Amino acid sequence: MEIKATKGLRGEICVPGDKSISHRSIMFGALAKGTTEITHFLQGADCLSTIGCFREMGIEIENRPEKILVHGKGLHGLSSPSTILDVGNSGTTTRLISGILSGQPFPTILSGDASLNSRPMKRIMEPLQLMGADIESKSGNGCAPLIINSHLKNGDKPSLTGIHYHSKVASAQVKSAILLAGLYADGITKVTEPVLSRNHTELMLNGFGAQITTKIHDDSSATIAIAPCEELFGQNIHVPGDISSAAYFIAAGLLVPDSELLIKNVGINPTRAGILEVCKAMGADITYLNEKTDSGEPTADLLVKTSTLHGTTIEGAIIPTLIDEIPMIAVMAAFAEGTTVIKDAAELKVKETDRIQTTCEGLRAMGTDIIPTEDGMIIHGGKALHGGIINSYLDHRIAMAFAIAGLAADGITTIENSQCVDVSYPDFFETLKRIQL
Ligand code: S3P
Repeated sequence: MEIKATKGLRGEICVPGDKSISHRSIMFGALAKGTTEITHFLQGADCLSTIGCFREMGIEIENRPEKILVHGKGLHGLSSPSTILDVGNSGTTTRLISGILSGQPFPTILSGDASLNSRPMKRIMEPLQLMGADIESKSGNGCAPLIINSHLKNGDKPSLTGIHYHSKVASAQVKSAILLAGLYADGITKVTEPVLSRNHTELMLNGFGAQITTKIHDDSSATIAIAPCEELFGQNIHVPGDISSAAYFIAAGLLVPDSELLIKNVGINPTRAGILEVCKAMGADITYLNEKTDSGEPTADLLVKTSTLHGTTIEGAIIPTLIDEIPMIAVMAAFAEGTTVIKDAAELKVKETDRIQTTCEGLRAMGTDIIPTEDGMIIHGGKALHGGIINSYLDHRIAMAFAIAGLAADGITTIENSQCVDVSYPDFFETLKRIQL
């Protein structure tokens, strides 16, 4: 895909449904009694992988143009799949479903694409094993394919043991895997994480009838507890716009001269909205309009206008709230005056690509003075960026962040393997074209 510098951006954008919330709505709907109706679901490849896995386990899911209907069969209603469950490129599918599968009376094998099968799974295997799950990495390298065995006969109610797990990383995928296994445990299951990671599982599972509590401690660590559960009940879910997808258009509106964009119905849950704090610290002109709550999640329309940005430091507790937006933030920092330092973000190394490496490689190709560090990067901003050839390495967030860089840089930017945007934002390039003056 070729991107040319543009004069200005104008218009209204409705970003697709939140990826994290879309995944969870299918999973919890499948485990609930009755029908779950989902609107504004993200029809991206990752969420379609989740649908595929649950269909394979006997759940009827109607994917209609205006809504999705999940005909849940209750906590003990999944059936043994006849094939390996294909998790595609999706870490969220893999890690969350592993918690659910650990509590089933049938064995399963999970496998995905090359990127997925090289991402670390020990972080969920260890706590699930402590709960009594029999989960192993097929090649013994701590990665998928994962084999989840069951020692129970079909029909027996599985029982895992409730534990209190202290996670080293603030990861919603780790936390959610443990909490979902906790639905099948014989006592209270607790997870303590260094800071509260995105809390969509807690909000939505409570809505489905589970009992989850959250305690934030003085040192900002958080303990989340789930009680064993008899049944979940189908819900109506309206998925808010994904702030991680909105991030590209927020950045575009700020960076491209003479721009004004209204991005509608964006999820602004505080455990996700760190990018808005960072934009504010960098001097961005963003107005929140029409703030409300949708299916327990706060949303707003964001009015974004071209701004002169300056560098900032991003570190500590804010990192989990903006982890997926760091490639985009790094691009904004390259255009901003002064230096931006990003620290405490070693988790970037285990995303769809090593995003410290792929972000630095891309920005260097466009002329930015950027230094990778062990847990982030240092960006010396303010130098004009020129077009370049950017390898996305099939990472959707790298492809989109550099497409926006290309809009504000001189000359032509080529994004290689740009079709990977289908993972989270299939209409991304069409929307980008529509708003250019
Ligand atoms: C996600 C959690 C985050 C995030 C990912 C989606 C989720 O991963 O990067 O894109 O839906 O729970 P970690 O839990 O590994 O931080």
